[in-house]
Amino acid sequence: MMATEFVGREDVLGQLGQALAAAGAGAGCVALIYGEAGIGKTRLCRQLADEHRRRRGQVLLGHGSPEESAIAYGAVADTLRAARRAEPRIWESASTRANVLRAITPEIGSAHQRGGGADRPVVFEALLDTVEEATHSDQAMLWVLDDMHWADDATWHFVRYAARRVADMSLVLAVTYRDEEIGPASPRWPSLVTLKRDRHVLAVPLRRLGTPDAERLARAAAPDLASDVVAKVVERSAGTPLMIEELADLAARSGEFPALPDVVRVTVRDRVGRLGPAERDLLDVAAVAGLSVDAGLLRALRPEAVPAELVAAGLMEPDRAGFRFRHPLLQESAYEDVPPPRRSVLHEEIARFLSRDFAGGRGVQAAERIAVHLDRAGQPGAALAVLDEGAQRAQRAREIGRAATLTLAALDLARRRDELVSRRLGLEQLAIRELSMARRWSELDPLIRDAWSRSGTLPPGERVSLANIFSRHLFWSGAAAEAWRLIEAELAELEPAHASADAAMLATRGGHIARFRGQSEQALQYGERGLAAARRAGNVTAEWYAQHALAHIGYAVSGNRRAAADAFRQCAAAARAFGTKIEEAVTLFGLACHNGGALQDVEAGIQVAEEAGSPQC
Ligand SMILES: Nc1ncnc2c1ncn2[C@@H]1O[C@H](COP(=O)(O)OP(=O)(O)OP(=O)(O)O)[C@@H](O)[C@H]1O
Ligand SMILES: [Mg+2]
Repeated sequence: MMATEFVGREDVLGQLGQALAAAGAGAGCVALIYGEAGIGKTRLCRQLADEHRRRRGQVLLGHGSPEESAIAYGAVADTLRAARRAEPRIWESASTRANVLRAITPEIGSAHQRGGGADRPVVFEALLDTVEEATHSDQAMLWVLDDMHWADDATWHFVRYAARRVADMSLVLAVTYRDEEIGPASPRWPSLVTLKRDRHVLAVPLRRLGTPDAERLARAAAPDLASDVVAKVVERSAGTPLMIEELADLAARSGEFPALPDVVRVTVRDRVGRLGPAERDLLDVAAVAGLSVDAGLLRALRPEAVPAELVAAGLMEPDRAGFRFRHPLLQESAYEDVPPPRRSVLHEEIARFLSRDFAGGRGVQAAERIAVHLDRAGQPGAALAVLDEGAQRAQRAREIGRAATLTLAALDLARRRDELVSRRLGLEQLAIRELSMARRWSELDPLIRDAWSRSGTLPPGERVSLANIFSRHLFWSGAAAEAWRLIEAELAELEPAHASADAAMLATRGGHIARFRGQSEQALQYGERGLAAARRAGNVTAEWYAQHALAHIGYAVSGNRRAAADAFRQCAAAARAFGTKIEEAVTLFGLACHNGGALQDVEAGIQVAEEAGSPQC
């Protein structure tokens, strides 16, 4: 694939640019540049090298490689060999020390020179002298040792040695490695931890790209992609540049949503090769469990397997509650590698484990996860039952937002599964009610507009209920004019004697909006219609709502502050008598406003609101 434009990383480039400037003045350093495979270590170094060369700086480059991981000084030898063409002064200077440096590259110097048996520090000094001698006096030397996770002991020893010496040199030694390959289980890890703490070592962790940079990279890699595909590419890549390029390329070639890139499959298979049979089985369990896996679940289901092995193999990393796949695509790939019948069995096994607490009345947070696993195990009916039960429990606990979330999940499931078609309408109505109560307007919007577009055939009671919720939604999401038109049209159609809480609320809301529009007569008329309907329906909340509206409307009409305060006081007393605490609190705040901001009313309101435990007040 052709290299695309370089994106982002301004902070890191700035940091390394400063390090090069300091090295130019004789204060060098070792820069450890690390991050996951494909995060852009090599590309960053290339960018840095290009910029450095443009400032007439010199660059040396050597790579570690998996084939040469057992060869002493592999990456250093690679540097010298590459320098033979790119930086001949290095090669010349090295040749004068051939007797020592032959330990690294046997072909250095002339055939009659001998050597190669020197101690490591002698070799290291000779190397550093070589570099120093070849460095122009006014610029730093940038020496990149790339892919050092594959390097041998001797090369790492050299890096540690250089860290001690580099402070007085015009050298930045940039060392890149995959941190997943040198985790706590690696013998290399302890010395790396110590190295990072050295004063002359700059630790440069590379993180995933943020959305704007990730989008730029996706567009640069495949300029013709549609915006929604770019968004998908960015999401699935999680911001890892290699994944962005691969996914964008696949999408561009197939013209549709990208599949799993081969490089991910190869990575997973390569890393799985490092696992024993118990840990391979554990990986299947983890992949089926999801991106993030609870340690307790792994322990309970596979007590004999060692999760740390999955970490050591670079597939997972520890996180707060357990373990997480290092990249979402690694999990996807590991999941794909589990044969479908086995996946079903594992999903069921995990659902059963998660259900232990749920069945006993606890663990309501697990409802969605249990449902997902049951659904994937081919049991959508059981999945829906869990979501229903969770939503009802949340309702009983007055956790309305949680209830709405579970009802939405249930609706989504019912829409996806043909066998649940009979539940769709009921769940849709429930979701609309709960989202409205939870004031989650943006999620409510598409649902309620769709439902309203089909409202022509509804019986009057159901229609007015939907109109009530829809008008409230429109009002609170800033479409007051649309709300007003809807209320006027509905009230004109509705029998004046229609008695229901919804009709009462709808009329009262009409009163409120008319007041904001400066139509006092109309406001009064709608408010009174609301009050009468509420009384006929015997609904105390609707009655309070109408009284409260009329208190506001009365003040708007008369401008009489004292009369308004009296009206609010009566309204608060009525709410108290009805036992509706939230309404009482809201009224007390209204009273405070009309009573010159009286502190005792505010405090009384706060106290009642606290008793009600309502975040709405
Ligand atoms: N900042 C960036 N701007 C543009 N492209 C980038 C950027 N970072 C990475 N890439 C591209 O993403 C791909 C992977 O990057 P790179 O090879 O540098 O990753 P790496 O960290 O060196 O991976 P590995 O550990 O496998 O060596 C490359 O094609 C590279 O050109
Ligand atoms: Mg690389």
